[in-house]
Amino acid sequence: NTVFQGRSLLAEKDFTPEELEYLIDFSIHLKDLKKRGIPHKYLQGKNIALLFEKNSTRTRAAFTTASVDLGAHPEFLGKNDIQLGKKESVEDTARVLGSMFDGIEFRGFSQDVVEGLAKFSGVPVWNGLTDEWHPTQMIADFMTVKENFGKLKGITLTYVGDGRNNMANSLLVTGSMLGVNIHIVAPDSLQPTEEVQKFAAEFAEKSGSKNMITSDVDKGVKGSDVLYTDVWVSMGEEDKFEERINTLKPYQLNMDMVKKTGNENMIIMHCLPAFHGIETEYGKEMFEKYGVREMEITDEAFRSKYARQFEEAENRMHSIKAIMAATAGNLFIPRV
Ligand code: CP
Ligand code: NVA
Repeated sequence: NTVFQGRSLLAEKDFTPEELEYLIDFSIHLKDLKKRGIPHKYLQGKNIALLFEKNSTRTRAAFTTASVDLGAHPEFLGKNDIQLGKKESVEDTARVLGSMFDGIEFRGFSQDVVEGLAKFSGVPVWNGLTDEWHPTQMIADFMTVKENFGKLKGITLTYVGDGRNNMANSLLVTGSMLGVNIHIVAPDSLQPTEEVQKFAAEFAEKSGSKNMITSDVDKGVKGSDVLYTDVWVSMGEEDKFEERINTLKPYQLNMDMVKKTGNENMIIMHCLPAFHGIETEYGKEMFEKYGVREMEITDEAFRSKYARQFEEAENRMHSIKAIMAATAGNLFIPRV
């Protein structure tokens, strides 16, 4: 465990494939302890800062409950509460927080900010989502895949929809590291950048995973074990609704697409929040403006027997515990 001490998780590449798999297995172990009511206070007496520039339900809730279960005190610092981004630089904020807190989570726009926090704080920093990457989500996601299929190597995970966002980037790179075949099924204009594709291909070559980037839905989803999707419009790009609805309609995760996998044992995953109906305020607004009741996933698929998004969401807590305990934990507390 000592090799993890003091390290930050800013992007998946910060850890080796073996270390990522260790974190996945440690998450499964901590989930078991939680279910059995066995204490696991690896962060007893520590303080954790939770910085959020963008909204969050799961990431904030997971970091908060994980901190408390681990014996630490979490402190939420929202974008309107602190000086960062207005009166104070990343460096100065990082130096101050690093002198008081034992670990810092950051969610926001720029990858440079989370990297700056790590550089100047002197404590482990965890990326809770930037425009580019969502690494803590990856531990929960591949943990969910492992729980469902008993293994990672050789599994085919197909991501459909906006192939250029943080989730697509992270799934492509992490799957390639872990030996999971990743298909990205997206229109040409929304496929991963050449840079991300190349980066993933280097890992895929080592792990033996086979990636496919295609705009052809039939070809891309055939034989998939997992169909994965995410919102068509990510936080910060709210002006893109009309364009995305038009380009991404053929890439909606629906029951027809599920059939096209030809795999009765397939599962559906979604990092959430999901646009699968108009019962939300946001949904009603979109229906009035664009006439759509569902976007990236239909309600039928979301509620089908294949769906695993709520297990996946719960796993955010277990996996964030593993990440925090491994990198900022008290070593003298033995594993049960
Ligand atoms: N999946 C995820 O990161 O959800 P939140 O935006 O609610 O944290
Ligand atoms: N791509 C989404 C993920 C939310 C968890 C976003 O960035 O808004």
